[in-house]
Amino acid sequence: MARVLVTRRLPDGGTDPLLAAGHELVTAGDDVPLTHAQLCAAVADVDAVVCLLTDRVDDTVIAAGGSRLKVVANVAVGYDNVDVGAATAAGVAVCNTPGVLDETTADLAFLLILTASRLASTAEHDLRTGAWKGWGINQYLGRDVHGAVLGIVGFGRIGQAVARRATGFGMEVLHNTRTDTGLPGWTGDLDALIAQSDIVSLHVPLNDSTRHLIDAGRLALMKPTAVLVNTARGPVVDEEALAIALEQGEIFAAGIDVYEREPEVHPRLLAAPRTVLLPHIGSASQQTRTRMAQLACEGVVAVLAGETPPNLVTPR
Ligand code: DGY
Repeated sequence: MARVLVTRRLPDGGTDPLLAAGHELVTAGDDVPLTHAQLCAAVADVDAVVCLLTDRVDDTVIAAGGSRLKVVANVAVGYDNVDVGAATAAGVAVCNTPGVLDETTADLAFLLILTASRLASTAEHDLRTGAWKGWGINQYLGRDVHGAVLGIVGFGRIGQAVARRATGFGMEVLHNTRTDTGLPGWTGDLDALIAQSDIVSLHVPLNDSTRHLIDAGRLALMKPTAVLVNTARGPVVDEEALAIALEQGEIFAAGIDVYEREPEVHPRLLAAPRTVLLPHIGSASQQTRTRMAQLACEGVVAVLAGETPPNLVTPR
């Protein structure tokens, strides 16, 4: 039996794989992120950690785990909050949750595509606050989604799931990856994709090459009628530049689920026109969040049993 730190409360059933394997859970009472110091202290006498993207598992945390710590499992597909290099060097396995959240996150991306393009958030706000005084032919004139060109940046599982939805909406789909996918609509030229698209949806992981991938220069390439959607990671977009582009009408609208400094949102983005802002809920369905928790815990169980789980991020 091993001791497993679970840093925050997981959905019901999420820790079942750990319990079924007979491991002891060390859980925090409240569902608030541990401070960095608390995390370092908590990791010192456990064999494994199940953490969330709100936990910064850096080299100090890995070192605090000492020789006892064997595995860190992040309940997210993105793992930019975990120093995988430090973990690898220390012989600590890292797991994530690929595959189980693709369709749910693609649903949310499509929700943002529709909501931002059709100004649905603004219209609902006006209705609820009494600002809507009756139907008018020039009110809330959005942009059509059907027939639009959708540019997907990053074409992994989630990007492909968004593409499938777009086909049903009669959209033309382009996608950008560095290496040729061999699929219709591929371009290696990100700037060209951005310039041609009516809607740009981001599906890249956060790393050194994608930080501020969408900056003022790339926003300026977008059509003034275009919509930007980000369900990937906040720092992929320069938030201030996006706010300015929206303020100045350089782009039509934006649908954003992730932020550079969560839970803070840039005040100019909060105030920007035609902007739909959601609190990082891409994978937030009951079924998917439960499955994500279970998958992370299954990774822990496998590593502790000396096996290689399919969701291992560190080199095998
Ligand atoms: C992830 O998995 O990386 C999401 O951001 C949270 O579901």
